[in-house]
Amino acid sequence: MQQFTDKQIELVTAFAAQATIALEITRQVQMELAHATRVVAMGHLTGSLAHELKQPLSAAAVNADASSLWLMREPPQIENAKQSVQRIIEDVDRASAVIDRVHNLVKKAAPRTDTININDAILEIMTVVHGEVVKNRIRVQTQLSDSLPRVRGDRVRLQQVMLNLIINAIQAMSGLTDSIRELRISTESTKEEVRVAVRDTGPGLSADNLQQLFEPFFTTKPSGMGMGLSICRTIVEEHGGRLWANENEPQGALFQFALPPTDRADLDQIDASLGTSRY
Ligand SMILES: Nc1ncnc2c1ncn2[C@@H]1O[C@H](COP(=O)(O)OP(=O)(O)O)[C@@H](O)[C@H]1O
Ligand SMILES: [Mg+2]
Repeated sequence: MQQFTDKQIELVTAFAAQATIALEITRQVQMELAHATRVVAMGHLTGSLAHELKQPLSAAAVNADASSLWLMREPPQIENAKQSVQRIIEDVDRASAVIDRVHNLVKKAAPRTDTININDAILEIMTVVHGEVVKNRIRVQTQLSDSLPRVRGDRVRLQQVMLNLIINAIQAMSGLTDSIRELRISTESTKEEVRVAVRDTGPGLSADNLQQLFEPFFTTKPSGMGMGLSICRTIVEEHGGRLWANENEPQGALFQFALPPTDRADLDQIDASLGTSRY
């Protein structure tokens, strides 16, 4: 067996330490990037979220006026004032629920592993994009299987995948002039996998685009970052699944991802890969 000199050992040790630092920095940068793209994704929604917040807040203001009017009556109308105050509480609760949903998606959180009902995760995302859907006059159809097994993973990251796919679909359709704008989201399961499909009726994917969609920084949008799909694919793969794209029939794009149901997933493997998650 070959003996190493002290000098060689010292060099290798120093090198290993450097490599560890470099890896740690890369991981840090990747997590920052993932967070940034999540914030960018939410940025697309700010207009419609502002609208969703404004509604309960103006209702609260109206109810506050009402309650002070009831109290200024001679004699003060306590019961009516109490009702108006109760309405203020409900309005404010509604506003804070909107903020909570956004905050959950945007905050920097350590990776988690939960047992997730994908249908619930989708419905929550649909409430977040609701304003954007209305603004772009898009018809939404959901077909969620009612016997969907649960999957293992990080709820926020999987929601990030859905959010990206849905925002891409909305953006793809926002330029359509007279054809129908339809977003169809469906879930189904086989013995091996839980599958989610996002279909739109936008311009679809050219053969050229299909080649490059998932590459980092590939974008055809003037202010696109081109990281969305690349991050989506990494997240899905970290969950032991796969993500792919096809042409939708008769028109548009079809993105699908499939995850192993908990009883078939290698849970330890998924937990381990999320523990060192890049996104
Ligand atoms: N639903 C879709 N319909 C048509 N093209 C799409 C769709 N989703 C993604 N693409 C194409 O893939 C590219 C990369 O998407 P993505 O990685 O999310 O980055 P970005 O949205 O910042 O451009 C888009 O610029 C677009 O050309
Ligand atoms: Mg995108």
